[in-house]
Amino acid sequence: MDLIQDLNWRYATKSYSNKKISKEKLDFILEATNLSASSVGLQPYRIFAIDNAGLKTKLGANSFNKQIAQSSHLLVFATYNKVTTQHVRDLVNLTAEKQGVTVESLNELFTAANTYFTGRSDEENKLWAERQTYIALGTALIAAANAKVDATPMEGFDAQLFDELLGLKEKDLHSVVILSLGYRDEINDYLANLPKVRISVGEMVTKIS
Ligand SMILES: Cc1cc2nc3c(=O)[nH]c(=O)nc-3n(C[C@H](O)[C@H](O)[C@H](O)COP(=O)(O)O)c2cc1C
Repeated sequence: MDLIQDLNWRYATKSYSNKKISKEKLDFILEATNLSASSVGLQPYRIFAIDNAGLKTKLGANSFNKQIAQSSHLLVFATYNKVTTQHVRDLVNLTAEKQGVTVESLNELFTAANTYFTGRSDEENKLWAERQTYIALGTALIAAANAKVDATPMEGFDAQLFDELLGLKEKDLHSVVILSLGYRDEINDYLANLPKVRISVGEMVTKIS
């Protein structure tokens, strides 16, 4: 039930105070985000956690979202441009290590996953990977609310500028969505005390028994 309170408390913050979030809270949000589910378990994205005022200002230059520069920290969710055999190989190696089994015993998993990804176009894999990235965004939003850290998910940013300034192209990544973190400026944020706008659970959900 506490989670429902947290989710009612959170909102897409429009204006931040200059209070910084602690390293502990940031690490909590990042650890929770890393625990996100992803299809095949591939985690085909990386997160950049930016706590550099100059860089945040540059990143926010072309955007109507002043939260980019104003936030305490900015998380950039960047997705891989392609899913490669190496990604699958890395997952199999990690699984073997974490589960204490041999890589050879996971050959079937490797072949199935590799066949799945290589049988699709790069574009299909990219769209698939972006969908996984949004699941991580959702986890980060929930974790932030649970830590009583304000957050704003944003698609309103100059992705080309982000990719350039963060050197994402060289890493075969592209920025997809961002999340600012910080503390609401209750006085200047017109959204701070407004009720949530959601359809009813009954309208959202069809229960079938
Ligand atoms: C993927 C995504 C992109 C969004 N982009 C922006 C944005 O660029 N700027 C902004 O102020 N809010 C943005 N929002 C926030 C939504 O407008 C907000 O979540 C929605 O109105 C529901 O309100 P609430 O989050 O305050 O409950 C975005 C939300 C999501 C999930």
